[in-house]
Amino acid sequence: MLTYLPPQISPPRIKLRPSISKQMIITLKEIHKTYRLSKTKTLEALKGVNLSVKRGEIFGIVGESGAGKSTLIRCINLLEIPTKGEVIVDHQNLTALSPAELRKARRKIGMIFQHFNLLQSRTVYKNIAFPLELAGLSASGISKKIDPILDLTGLADKKYHYPSQLSGGQKQRVAIARALANEPDILLSDEATSALDPETKHSILQLLKQINEQFGLTIVLITHEMSVIKEICHRLAMISDGKIVEQANVIDFFTRPETDVGKRFIHSQAIRMLPESVQARLSPQNKGTLPLVRISFLGDSAEAPLITYLVQNFSLHINILQAQFEKIRDEMIGMMLVELSGNLDDVEKGRNYLHAQGAFTEVIGYVQPIR
Ligand SMILES: Nc1ncnc2c1ncn2[C@@H]1O[C@H](COP(=O)(O)OP(=O)(O)OP(=O)(O)O)[C@@H](O)[C@H]1O
Ligand SMILES: [Mg+2]
Repeated sequence: MLTYLPPQISPPRIKLRPSISKQMIITLKEIHKTYRLSKTKTLEALKGVNLSVKRGEIFGIVGESGAGKSTLIRCINLLEIPTKGEVIVDHQNLTALSPAELRKARRKIGMIFQHFNLLQSRTVYKNIAFPLELAGLSASGISKKIDPILDLTGLADKKYHYPSQLSGGQKQRVAIARALANEPDILLSDEATSALDPETKHSILQLLKQINEQFGLTIVLITHEMSVIKEICHRLAMISDGKIVEQANVIDFFTRPETDVGKRFIHSQAIRMLPESVQARLSPQNKGTLPLVRISFLGDSAEAPLITYLVQNFSLHINILQAQFEKIRDEMIGMMLVELSGNLDDVEKGRNYLHAQGAFTEVIGYVQPIR
């Protein structure tokens, strides 16, 4: 018995944490950036980017190498001057400020990098002190500020070490401490965890998450790794060839993608997890074949025996091809790929049941049965 399912069924969308303000702290309007490569050659790295970041959120920008991620994040603090467009940070149009006003505005935007960019001839303490010296603070004022930052970043016992005496993770902690010294409202992170081993990466991401939650610091991070987005981001944007091709709440994106680009990404990830023999029988069109359904569960329903209930109550034949649980930020997400068959009435009821449990179902292809 074959079944027809509508392509997508959506339960209500998830609300962001209440501590994230609705107010935008960063707005990029129609940002273009063209690099001049030679007298006659130019390269358009950003092609009209519009982006808004809410106060208090961790916003991830993901994309392949050369997509324009670094150019984009550097446009937020005008390390890179856009060729066209406006950068609004905390209600100020940075592109219209005088150099002195821009210097002041930049103090509220910290930045960290993949290769840490520490001053090798200065101790940890002196590295963190550097931006405070530039801001004109006295030695005693600097000292009062640095001790709590050293505690926060777990560097209290490294105060007088030099960068060459530190591990990669410790160096990145110094860079984070230095970026926090001026008590910024925004932290920009350009692949800050890309050079670190998985365990150290996790500890740095957890530190960023803690800082975000404790101080309400807005973080914009760029990465080429979806795992980084999954671990700490509230929202994400995907950039490809200088254009934003997707913007979404992270949990929505992984459970119920809406745009074509988002769906392509999530579906191809799901399909890659199937055995090759099933992939070979998969087609995007229904040719008298079984629908391949991706079911994603959120929160408590991830632990509920949904499939058992479906089979027992709706006479459905369910062939589970793949199932996994995953943590996205602090939420448990369950994802299953199943072949479904049964009479239409049962399928409809089963689908409504899943829907009522907060699950999302989507047909992502059709599988030719083995003859
Ligand atoms: N200063 C520059 N001069 C000329 N072209 C540049 C400059 N910086 C970047 N580009 C070009 O702009 C495009 C986007 O580069 P960008 O560094 O923003 O990409 P990315 O997404 O950060 O890549 P990666 O993941 O490799 O760091 C690339 O084609 C790059 O070669
Ligand atoms: Mg880059």
